[in-house]
Amino acid sequence: MDFNLTEEHLMIQQAARDFAQTELLPGVIERDEHSKFPTEQVKMMADLGFLGMVVDPKYGGAGLDSISYVLALTEIAKIDASAAVIMSVNNSLVCAGLQKYCNEEQKMKYLVPLAKGEVLGAFCLSEPEAGSDATSQKTTAIDKGDHYVLNGTKNWITNGSSASTYVVIAQTNVEKGHKGISAFIVEKGWAGFAIGPKEKKMGIRGSDTHSLLFTDVIVPKENRIGEEGFGFTFAMNVLNGGRIGIASQALGIATGAYELALNYAQQRKAFGKEIFKHQAIAFKLVDMATSIMAAKMLCLKAASEKDEGKDISQSGAMAKLYASQVAMDTTIEAVQIHGGNGYVAEYHVERMMRDAKITQIYEGTSEIQRIVISRTLVS
Ligand code: CAA
Ligand code: FAD
Repeated sequence: MDFNLTEEHLMIQQAARDFAQTELLPGVIERDEHSKFPTEQVKMMADLGFLGMVVDPKYGGAGLDSISYVLALTEIAKIDASAAVIMSVNNSLVCAGLQKYCNEEQKMKYLVPLAKGEVLGAFCLSEPEAGSDATSQKTTAIDKGDHYVLNGTKNWITNGSSASTYVVIAQTNVEKGHKGISAFIVEKGWAGFAIGPKEKKMGIRGSDTHSLLFTDVIVPKENRIGEEGFGFTFAMNVLNGGRIGIASQALGIATGAYELALNYAQQRKAFGKEIFKHQAIAFKLVDMATSIMAAKMLCLKAASEKDEGKDISQSGAMAKLYASQVAMDTTIEAVQIHGGNGYVAEYHVERMMRDAKITQIYEGTSEIQRIVISRTLVS
């Protein structure tokens, strides 16, 4: 592994850092307070090529590598974790899956506008009774000759109302269990497709999370991704890559909170000296810096293995498991270092602490990451 970043990597990182500082930072507290989707900022991210980063330019993407993606996403998440998840879902769960598994017609029709950021995508796996236990899909897609009829409910869908293109996982043959699950592309506005109310969340309040209801939705056969029965493998493979995105989001949240805490500790005085000079505070910052470095290495390792075409089920899950714990630990300590100021919105760290929690839950809880990793430890 060689993590000497290239000039291009550093330029992309700097571009993301500048964008986050100038465009995301000014309204981030207000968007959190009012659960407001960053519509204008997402358009700017599209113009910067951040919504289809690893997609081949012939399909409208930026044609970059996964290291660039980790670096850019981390910078976005340092300032605004909601913008980061919007970016992560579009890139890793939607564009990457379509690029790898769709046919040419599907790519031209759906991937190109998604990679250019002209429209947003959503990935719909979770259901009221199938979260961690993702093979227990209750949504059905029944074969009717030239089309399927889709019925069921999806829960907790990121970009739920802002998306136009939805990747939906559904059971096409109940008797075959997970081998009877298929994946489809569904468009917003199709008859029978309804979007439930927006969830009121603890964190990442700028991202829109909705349940989706499908009642006798007609899905043309040409909108199935891959063969019938391929849907669960598709979802698992897509999630292996997606977990690098959420790991980077967690790394960004941790880094943002650490930088604020380090700065605060050098300004704030107590008992006649800067609080950084109290060893108890300095040691907290040491632990933060060390674990952030380790999380960064895991993210870059997973990204570099992805670029090499290796199996990333282990490295992606390890990066997410570790980085999400680091995000939680770091943000809690960043609030502590800020004292009372840590508890109010204008110092940012309380929002970061609320935002950090979701990284241990979505794209597979920490318990599920341990299951995934444990299965890679023995053959
Ligand atoms: N990569 C590739 N394939 C995998 C895999 C992985 N990481 N994990 C499992 N599989 C395959 C298995 O090889 C198996 O295939 P075969 O039968 O063909 O060999 C099949 O999937 C079923 O695997 P298991 O028998 O292990 O199934 P299980 O029911 O015991 O466990 C699970 C499966 C790993 C727990 C899976 O259900 C899982 O990952 N659950 C978590 C779901 C999840 O991450 N949801 C995220 C939703 S998206 C989201 O959250 C977006 C967002 O926040 C922004
Ligand atoms: P459950 O599966 O009910 O788990 C409850 C608890 O039990 C957890 O602690 C879990 O780790 C534990 N548990 C379950 N099984 C085991 C086991 N075998 N061993 C040990 N512990 C276990 N889903 C999508 O498909 N698309 C999205 O875009 C999306 N975005 C989301 C955005 C937000 C804000 C949220 C909150 C969720 C989102 N999700 C999305 C859903 C998310 O992936 C699920 O919430 C997650 O996978 C957990 O499922 P669950 O909520 O049903 O919890």
